[in-house]
Amino acid sequence: MPIISIAIQKGGSGKTTTALNLGAALSEQGKKVLLIDADPQANLSQSLGIEDEPRFNLYSELKKEILQEGGRLADAIVSTASGIDVVPASIDLAIVELEMAGLMGREYLISDLLKPLADLYDYIFIDCPHSISLLTVNALVASDYVMLPLPGEFLPLKGVYGFMRQFDVIRKKLNPHLELMGMVMTKYDDRKQMNVGVKRQLEEKFDGKVFRTVIRTNIQLAKAQEAGKDIFRYDRSSNGAKDYRNLAEELMNRSLVLNESIEMFQEMQAVIA
Ligand SMILES: Nc1ncnc2c1ncn2[C@@H]1O[C@H](COP(=O)(O)OP(=O)(O)O)[C@@H](O)[C@H]1O
Ligand SMILES: [Mg+2]
Repeated sequence: MPIISIAIQKGGSGKTTTALNLGAALSEQGKKVLLIDADPQANLSQSLGIEDEPRFNLYSELKKEILQEGGRLADAIVSTASGIDVVPASIDLAIVELEMAGLMGREYLISDLLKPLADLYDYIFIDCPHSISLLTVNALVASDYVMLPLPGEFLPLKGVYGFMRQFDVIRKKLNPHLELMGMVMTKYDDRKQMNVGVKRQLEEKFDGKVFRTVIRTNIQLAKAQEAGKDIFRYDRSSNGAKDYRNLAEELMNRSLVLNESIEMFQEMQAVIA
């Protein structure tokens, strides 16, 4: 039941595309997946065919938490044709930051809301907004892992270092068990020197943290999103579908390895004690 935030403080990086299609790929593998749309732009909700803002959504439940009226995410879950569940966003998420600003424990609202759901799903992904805002902090505090999608086109290293500084602060002050799951290259084209160079540089700096699978540039991914579908229901033989299927495979293996190392660590501690 890992909770995984998909974050990076830059729009157009592939966060929403990754939440949607990685979630759908895992669901195809028989996993139970919940997506949380924490971006006021509600791209993820729209990409799942949710056009009108549902009455119950992440904002409505956060608001109840702020007012101490007991928010319940279960009330806001929408089952989609993709086989995945989603808690949709609301444009009001843009103002929730102000509403929670003065609140004691404001960093723990999403974490508290997710607690009753954690055991019901194999994977929970939180699609974060483009800023390291209070919503993103809430997402990271609620998470076991964070995954960074990075297009190899822009200079992502700066953004990554900026993000990692925040990551360290959150680990130190708010959520010591947050782990960097990894970075995944998106909109990748191995004929572009820039893409290949950026990937290599990341592999050198963050040893073992760059997913072997890359998500190639594939127009079908953008078209699927526009059509309100995941890539498997839109074009299951596309490169986009292949890449997200491979990423899901790698993620499942990787979380096994992570679990094993946690177990090993616990065993070692037990021996030392
Ligand atoms: N691998 C890809 N190939 C082509 N287009 C992509 C790819 N990944 C994402 N896109 C498109 O790029 C745009 C930004 O992606 P998105 O996932 O919304 O980024 P973010 O959530 O980080 O802002 C969207 O229009 C999306 O459909
Ligand atoms: Mg997005």
